[in-house]
Amino acid sequence: MHPIDQLIVGFDRALRAVAGAPRAARPSPAERVPEAGLAPAEREHSAALMRVNHVGEVCAQALYQGQAITARDASARAGLERAAREEEDHLAWSAARIRELGGRPSLLNPLWYAGSLAMGVAAGALGDRWNLAFLAETERQVEAHLAGHLEALPASDARTRAVVDAMRSDEAKHRDTAIALGAAELPQPVKAAMRLASRVMTTVAYRV
Ligand SMILES: [Fe+2]
Ligand SMILES: [Fe+2]
Repeated sequence: MHPIDQLIVGFDRALRAVAGAPRAARPSPAERVPEAGLAPAEREHSAALMRVNHVGEVCAQALYQGQAITARDASARAGLERAAREEEDHLAWSAARIRELGGRPSLLNPLWYAGSLAMGVAAGALGDRWNLAFLAETERQVEAHLAGHLEALPASDARTRAVVDAMRSDEAKHRDTAIALGAAELPQPVKAAMRLASRVMTTVAYRV
């Protein structure tokens, strides 16, 4: 694709990610699960956790976008296309679930998107192996984070849990894909810095 076309496609994707009008290729895992009768506080908690997850998916859009802009190796690019498409499903599913719960997406989504895109492009500038390393570590941290949410969500909120569980198993596949494509291993301090950044993001996004 010509760089200008790529930029236009990227801009379109950014707008959709931030404006919350994503297109899902697969039906939401919530569709086959009946709605539970949640107490108001439980609904609010679930909605806030899904807002955090939705921000994570906005960031994933930006990271995969950054990867697509900077990837040199055609096979790495093609290999990650499927993962990027699945991230669009996650974005749509989590946005839909927030709406069902009566919540709203993060007001800071444009900021999250821009920050993640900058990080993705910076990692990409170091070359494909580091680009993939950054993606693999992000996917690993997101997977762990979603596992934590399965503990934190109300036990009766099976509809939200179905979405989180499906996302978690996709993120594990994405990580394996990035590793299979030749991801390097990030140094510990970088991993720790990423954990810190994600803790800031999740704490803020739970509220705003
Ligand atoms: Fe995702
Ligand atoms: Fe992922």
